[in-house]
Amino acid sequence: MSNDGVDNGKRRFLTLATSAVGAVGAGFVAVPFLGSWKPSAKAQAAGAPVEFMIDKLEEGQMVKVEWRGKPVFVVRRSQATLEALKNSTLSLKDPESTNVEQQPEYITGVTRSIRPDILVLIGICTHLGCVPQHKKATEVEWGGGFFCPCHGSQFDLSGRVTSASPASKNLVVPPYYFMSDNQLMIGLDKGAA
Ligand code: FES
Repeated sequence: MSNDGVDNGKRRFLTLATSAVGAVGAGFVAVPFLGSWKPSAKAQAAGAPVEFMIDKLEEGQMVKVEWRGKPVFVVRRSQATLEALKNSTLSLKDPESTNVEQQPEYITGVTRSIRPDILVLIGICTHLGCVPQHKKATEVEWGGGFFCPCHGSQFDLSGRVTSASPASKNLVVPPYYFMSDNQLMIGLDKGAA
């Protein structure tokens, strides 16, 4: 008995799946990583954690680091921003970050960070996966954070989603730790190092 029909069906699926992955990959790399830092191709392929020096990151500035093919936002927040976050009057969907899937267990509180001044987030909108834009506190009247150009979701400077957004979850905080005052390891918990 011939199984040509089955094989052809499988081949068509594999071809379609490969094309889809190729299309997503091509679309993704077309997005420019402005002011970004990329690990070696070998490290990327392995999905390895990436080291990043934060000594050149100025207050209010954000840099994109690539980890496992995803943009990771690293922001240095000012004291004024931290105060504003503490006293925020924005209406938020999960102000206490109670959804445990959105951050490691050692990320707690309003700042959603290990060190208050340094914010680390995966820069992928929790609605349908676009890359949000960083908005400085001085640029917008809602206090700054991240704006998704696809359907208008807004996240504050801790990555917490506002109530009016189509996205329902806060931005994800990846595992990370500080190797030293100025050296971040992104993609690994300290206990696992
Ligand atoms: S993908 Fe960001 S708002 Fe829809």
